[in-house]
Amino acid sequence: MQRMKSQVQINRKENELGMRILVNCALPYANSSLHLGHIAGCYLGGDIFVRYNRMIGNKVLFVSGTDEYGTPITIKAESENTTPQAVADKYHREIEESFRAMDISFDIFSRTTYREHTEVVSEIFLDLLNKGYLSEHEMVSPFCKECNRFLPDRYITGTCPYCGYDKARGDQCDNCGKTLDPKDLINPVCIISGTTPEFRETRHFFFKLDLFQDSLLEWISSKKNWRSNVIAFTKNFIESGLKERPITRDLSWGVPIPLKGYEDKRIYVWFEALLGYISAAKIYSESIGDPDYWKQYWTGDARSYFFLGKDNIPFHSVMLPAILIADGKLNLPYDIPANEYLKYNGEKFSKSRGVGFLVDEMLKVADKDYIRFYLTSILPENGDSEFSVTEMEEKVNTELISKYGNLIHRLTSFVHNNKISLGYPENPLGADLDILHKAESSFNEYRRMMENVELKKALKTWVELVQSANAYFNESEPWKLIKKDPLECAEKLSVIYVLCSYLTVMIYPFVPSSASRIWGSLGRKSGIEKSGVKELSHKFRNLTLEKTNPPFIPLKIANDNPNSLDLRVGRILSVKDHPSADRLYLLEVDLGDRKIHLVAGLRSQYRPEELVSRSIVVVSNLKKAKIRGETSEGMLLAADDGTLTSFLTLPDNIKPGTSVDLGKYSFNGQNVVEIDDLSGFNLHVGTVNGDAEALASIDGTDLSLNVNGVPVRPERDVKVGAKIK
Ligand code: MF3
Ligand code: ZN
Repeated sequence: MQRMKSQVQINRKENELGMRILVNCALPYANSSLHLGHIAGCYLGGDIFVRYNRMIGNKVLFVSGTDEYGTPITIKAESENTTPQAVADKYHREIEESFRAMDISFDIFSRTTYREHTEVVSEIFLDLLNKGYLSEHEMVSPFCKECNRFLPDRYITGTCPYCGYDKARGDQCDNCGKTLDPKDLINPVCIISGTTPEFRETRHFFFKLDLFQDSLLEWISSKKNWRSNVIAFTKNFIESGLKERPITRDLSWGVPIPLKGYEDKRIYVWFEALLGYISAAKIYSESIGDPDYWKQYWTGDARSYFFLGKDNIPFHSVMLPAILIADGKLNLPYDIPANEYLKYNGEKFSKSRGVGFLVDEMLKVADKDYIRFYLTSILPENGDSEFSVTEMEEKVNTELISKYGNLIHRLTSFVHNNKISLGYPENPLGADLDILHKAESSFNEYRRMMENVELKKALKTWVELVQSANAYFNESEPWKLIKKDPLECAEKLSVIYVLCSYLTVMIYPFVPSSASRIWGSLGRKSGIEKSGVKELSHKFRNLTLEKTNPPFIPLKIANDNPNSLDLRVGRILSVKDHPSADRLYLLEVDLGDRKIHLVAGLRSQYRPEELVSRSIVVVSNLKKAKIRGETSEGMLLAADDGTLTSFLTLPDNIKPGTSVDLGKYSFNGQNVVEIDDLSGFNLHVGTVNGDAEALASIDGTDLSLNVNGVPVRPERDVKVGAKIK
């Protein structure tokens, strides 16, 4: 008789030693509320990894905090007519609360405005200075005569020399992503006074990053386990040549320079914030009455992980390691599992541009674990990913609730109702042995993925095991066995009980509060994080289960925004005759981030030259269709009064790709609509203040098609009441 190999016990031995794992999450700027893009970008992954490590018996220190200095905060303060400190206080509190609400389990959520942080930064700054890693000399910086001060990078805008975007910032172009120097900008202006700055000399400290070129390259070459995008990006960055970098600024909001004569300058936020991880760990150590505690996590065999979004990679994979090498006392990052971006309707989440959802908004309609579960399933670990409310509902309702939740509930109610006594399957055979082996090997597979920080894959392993466990339940037919062979029935249910235990332990890091609750309903008395893994091999006997309710309530997000039409401004690039239909044109249309092809029935009404380069309105989420053999990736909106046809248009200065709203409703994010759905909107031409406009009516209310209040109009004088299609 074959016995199960006890892989789990072997692992437990290893872990009795307990590795030390330091997990750091990028410090969010204390200037805006958290949105789901932040959570998916690094905090959720950090928390899952932390909970997993605590669960398998490693010792973990989990830190983050708010990044409170620098121009992101002062700009916000100026726009809100208040002080930087007030902005930082407000958002620190709010951000910390959102993390708590999402069960992100930091040991400490620190602040860079803490006194201890200033001390850590001053100490390292002076250390680098003494060791000769800093130089001091003049540099040329933009100075605004109107404001009578040097302009920080973000206080200056102009045209990007690479892509021509006219709102590039002094440090970066948000359009093409290139890092910029204020001197690169074409037509630079001060964002406060609107005047052209002049360039003046100013004295600053520089970190001699170039000295670390070779040691950094050697270090990065030893990192075989890192995500390939992080390695590629870092290598490229180093190989393109490291130069000394200014680490002080002409500013008043920041960590002071610990030297006489520099009272009106501050340490650059991107130098000091990186040291926030160290100061946070120190402050935590003080708070537990063990001031040297942090050293166990920053030296020796401890492994440090840095979770962050991709725009932060070079600071953590080049700048921070160089500082740490220079300082020479602390460990370099063990891994930097950087994520890419979460997008909504194809755009990066952004509070200021109103794209996507805030954490607090989403928490009003969905349980934290539902959000965590869905976000994990789409974590942008190896590429950008797209958030969708409908997909969230579907994933949560099927995978988490129907498959896993129902399995738990079927087991517990069956065991309870039939007063079955469960016992650890000591000598399983056949299908029982197979499925237990499967559970064990899934768990090992899952552990490998978790250790590599491949969280999405780890979750997939779990989903597959849920499927196998359900199949085993169904094939076992306990409802028949209970009459035929009660002993065999109890054995089968015991196997299912073990499977459910594995599944609950494995899902714990992802949905901690639900898993803890379910762990209890499986009759487990001690906490899942502390004892879950150990208890998997616990030889339970005579176990009965209490009556329980279904563990989850299905997710239903009421969508009270009726606008399921993704209407976009398009610009016609070219017009060709349809090869086989003489009333149709083939249009190529610019939608900002992409070009699409449309088939349009305008040929009897317009000549090609009347269409080219005009702005139109396109339903861009219409199901793709072949029209007389030609693909149409959307639909152009045109009004038709029976005699005259007119396309709908907008002023030319509105950029292609801009969304068109229905009244106050912006697009609600529905994936695709069908041509028949359009009739529900009753699109037509009406008059508003005497002028013809494109209207939709929903439940008898007219809503005008508009871009920020600028109405969409038919380009020709069609009759009022003309249908739009
Ligand atoms: N505040 C920065 C951002 O949100 C990240 C800082 S990470 C740190 O992009 F390590 F520098 F703190
Ligand atoms: Zn650019």
